[in-house]
Amino acid sequence: MSNKEIPEDHLNLILKAGLRVPDHGALNPWKIKVIKGNSLKKVDEEVILKEFLKENPDAEQSIIDRESKRLQRASVVIAVISSPVENQKIPEWEMRLSSGAVCMNLLSCAQSLNYAAQWLTEWYAYNNAMLEFLGGDIKKDKISGFIYIGHKIEEPQERKRPDPKNIITFI
Ligand SMILES: Cc1cc2nc3c(=O)[nH]c(=O)nc-3n(C[C@H](O)[C@H](O)[C@H](O)COP(=O)(O)O)c2cc1C
Repeated sequence: MSNKEIPEDHLNLILKAGLRVPDHGALNPWKIKVIKGNSLKKVDEEVILKEFLKENPDAEQSIIDRESKRLQRASVVIAVISSPVENQKIPEWEMRLSSGAVCMNLLSCAQSLNYAAQWLTEWYAYNNAMLEFLGGDIKKDKISGFIYIGHKIEEPQERKRPDPKNIITFI
């Protein structure tokens, strides 16, 4: 993936697709944080690397180098935060699922526009400093994923896919 900027109209279209998801009760139980430009380096160095070094003070230089450029692999990283709201009728589970749908729509739209795109969590999706940096509430919010979007360098290799007959049954 190359991290050359992606045109604003494409980014806006991807974000619009991300918001056009099934959402029981129209509760909007998610937040989207778009990390791009100089902010990629800032988050890499001031949040990810800092947190990594706290947990791994003796890490090898090659690992430190990797951890210091996590987000800079992409042109833009869209963080999706699941943020359930109080509701008598709609179960929290459905709000969490809706957040996954936001991730998937962002991903599908980016891939449809022929970008390289991936839904990753990595360790820092489970890090409280990261969640707080993104404006999440550590008592109830969770990072559903980071959608990395960049320019393709080569076509991605297809992975092994499940055998439908192991998964699907007709009733
Ligand atoms: C919630 C979620 C989190 C993921 N986190 C990671 C991750 O941290 N690292 C990773 O290598 N793949 C992760 N994946 C898998 C990738 O998104 C993806 O499946 C893989 O890179 C291959 O892409 P493809 O299935 O479109 O071929 C995650 C998938 C999901 C649904």
